[in-house]
Amino acid sequence: MKGKEWYQADDVADEYDSKRFSRGGRHIDHREKQAVLDAVGPVEDKNILEIACGTGRFTVMLAERGANIVGLDISRAMMTKGREKARRADVADRIEFLRGDAARLPFPDDHFDAVFAMRFFHLADTPAKFLAEMARVSKDVVFFDTFNDTSARVAYNWLLPMGSRLYAEDEVDGLLHDAGLRLTQATHDFVVPYGLYRKLPNGIAGELRGLDTSLGGTSLGERLASVSYWTASVESSD
Ligand SMILES: C[S@@+](CC[C@H](N)C(=O)[O-])C[C@H]1O[C@@H](n2cnc3c(N)ncnc32)[C@H](O)[C@@H]1O
Repeated sequence: MKGKEWYQADDVADEYDSKRFSRGGRHIDHREKQAVLDAVGPVEDKNILEIACGTGRFTVMLAERGANIVGLDISRAMMTKGREKARRADVADRIEFLRGDAARLPFPDDHFDAVFAMRFFHLADTPAKFLAEMARVSKDVVFFDTFNDTSARVAYNWLLPMGSRLYAEDEVDGLLHDAGLRLTQATHDFVVPYGLYRKLPNGIAGELRGLDTSLGGTSLGERLASVSYWTASVESSD
């Protein structure tokens, strides 16, 4: 089954956050949130689009910091969780959750200050089309992450039921170029794959995270990192 269908199921949406971001998975959640904040910068009163917003982990965080944000996702079930989270955080008035396909964004060109997608490109069967749409509706920042084809993820990637695509750096460079985007920052992290963090209690995972970040700071660590975060800006046409 493809990711587009997989995340439509109520039980998948119900356990999405707890399965991935409780226990040691909190370190992953924290790192991903930091990556988004680093990429989009100060967000107060900015107009931001989050593609494949899922259960609203980043949508709610950015609304709490003053952004006006649209969260778009194909799954009603995932966005129901996002809406609940937004109500609990008292930021529902700053967020519009919109059901839609990332391949056809219902917005005019240059509509947002920043557009980002987390944990989405591994599900994308036509990444060039998705990235071109993100670039079209952003007037400045485009940010996304990928899983890497030189990481430990290779060993279990094929087992994942929602399908998962791994990327090489050259491929991402080509995609950015074709979408008219200029890479402004690339960072690589998680030599230790996500699956191991999730299995460990938070404290032990914290120790592991320390080792992981020290190894990640080396050139070998960069090469073996399982996740890359790509920040790009829209090339001006003049
Ligand atoms: C792994 S989840 C990531 C959710 C969220 N970005 C996060 O990091 O927690 C992938 C999300 O992509 C959504 N998705 C998959 N294909 C899509 C498409 N073509 N258009 C919009 N959303 C899509 C799924 O419904 C799901 O919510």
